[in-house]
Amino acid sequence: MSLISLADYEQAAREQLDPAAEAYYFGGAADEITLRDNVAAWRRLAIRPRVLVGVGERDAGVTLLGRRRRHPVVIAPMALHGLAHSGAETATAQAAAATDSIMCISTFSSQPVGAVGTAVPEAPCWFQLYVFNDRGVGRELVARAEESGCEALVVTVDLALRGAREREIRTPITADLGNVPATMSAEEFISLVDADLTWKDIELFAGETSLPVIVKGILTPEDARLALLHGAQGVVVSNHGGRQLDTVLSGADALPAVVDAVGADLDVLVDGGIRRGTDVLKALALGASAVMVGRPVLWGLAVDGSDGARRVLELLLGELDTALGLAGAPQAEALNRSFVTRAPWVGDAT
Ligand code: FNR
Repeated sequence: MSLISLADYEQAAREQLDPAAEAYYFGGAADEITLRDNVAAWRRLAIRPRVLVGVGERDAGVTLLGRRRRHPVVIAPMALHGLAHSGAETATAQAAAATDSIMCISTFSSQPVGAVGTAVPEAPCWFQLYVFNDRGVGRELVARAEESGCEALVVTVDLALRGAREREIRTPITADLGNVPATMSAEEFISLVDADLTWKDIELFAGETSLPVIVKGILTPEDARLALLHGAQGVVVSNHGGRQLDTVLSGADALPAVVDAVGADLDVLVDGGIRRGTDVLKALALGASAVMVGRPVLWGLAVDGSDGARRVLELLLGELDTALGLAGAPQAEALNRSFVTRAPWVGDAT
């Protein structure tokens, strides 16, 4: 069967992965209400397309952290690409380079950040930092990320504790980590993260690194304002793919208030449940500077290594191009809230 949508890759990846990897990649917290709502929330928005504006030439380009990018899709930081494919993060980085996508490398990657940078120096990369109890480890990781050419530091702040991930508890994984040379269960490596992290620490890291700091895991305008106040240059509106606190807001629903609060001063990214080009268009229309895409990239990687991850990104970007044309918004950066409205089908099965 030819795979022509992200949903096709999802199905194919399910058939491919062993049960522990499947539980780790697909699972969410508790009743998985937020996990499901992340996808549903984009579907609750309808597009208000405009016509006869001339869409023969389209440009999905955006400016992120002051740099021009060909499109707004960033690969979300995700642990353990090695569970999907032996090529691990290096294979994903090849897909990032082939599609001009920024790849955010996780602290809990299967391969060390330096090795990925050396293998695929042309891949634009950011580094995602979990701050450990041992602050020396964090500083060391940031130094390695800087040396590897990473262009931003994404500090994730919604993992003070591990969410109640019941699929993972039933079928736990144990894996080799690249940046923390050890073999550990997810429970063990998440316990390294400092539960006492505060805004002061963000300010400290922002002051110490030469890289712009983006705070990932914001769901309220109150916290977005604090991120700005403590030296961040961007925020990711995110609920960690529904893996942490169940029944929190989806990224799509939390985004507008955050954009209203800090959009003029910070780059605001959003993630969670982005599965179609129309979802990307809706995020931009609500005021996001860019989106992060998580699980679909792992599905591509599981199905066909680097080629699969590349194909997933190409499918999404192709859909975005079609959506921009048919919505009458040939310049992605000209999108605004007049292009979306609450969908009249809310309440129906979608
Ligand atoms: C994640 N996510 C994540 N986030 C982060 O900051 N550091 C990490 O190491 C991980 N690890 C991780 C592993 C796996 C298997 C998943 C699915 C997710 C969260 C990720 O960056 C992102 O916020 C969500 O995955 C986005 O939602 P979608 O696109 O997966 O629906």
